[in-house]
Amino acid sequence: MTGVKRIVLSSDHAAIQLRQTLADHIAAQGWEVVDIGPTTPESTHYPKHGQAAAERVASGDCRLGIILCGTGQGIMMAANKVKGIRCGVCSDTFSARMIRQHNDANMLSIGARVVGEGLAMDIVDAFLTAEFEGGRHATRVEMIETVEGA
Ligand code: RB5
Repeated sequence: MTGVKRIVLSSDHAAIQLRQTLADHIAAQGWEVVDIGPTTPESTHYPKHGQAAAERVASGDCRLGIILCGTGQGIMMAANKVKGIRCGVCSDTFSARMIRQHNDANMLSIGARVVGEGLAMDIVDAFLTAEFEGGRHATRVEMIETVEGA
């Protein structure tokens, strides 16, 4: 991936340990990681963390975002409510690659209670190394933006 490699990470309480593992893994690949927490294990509410990370991406402050909760589902739903965000939950590397190549996803969500640490790192690698293919896929992404009212 060319250009500024700055990525935001966030999660709820269910995924703090995995998020920190992924932050180190991603930083080791030359990304500037903006980890916006939380850092303490108290129960918290995934929508606010999904929204906070999504706003970093939507504003252009960060190029991509990775968010986590127990299933990856709730925090993904919240992130996708922020205009300009295309976030998919992935539990396999094929999907993680495809959401970049075909959907130009700018955020990835992972379920910390769904996948183990090793698979999560492979999913992140697939997401970060894939490139959007454009062409007919750009037309379809524009159609998503039309639905959104962009
Ligand atoms: C928290 O218990 C759990 O509901 C949350 O992490 C997530 O799985 C929601 O989608």
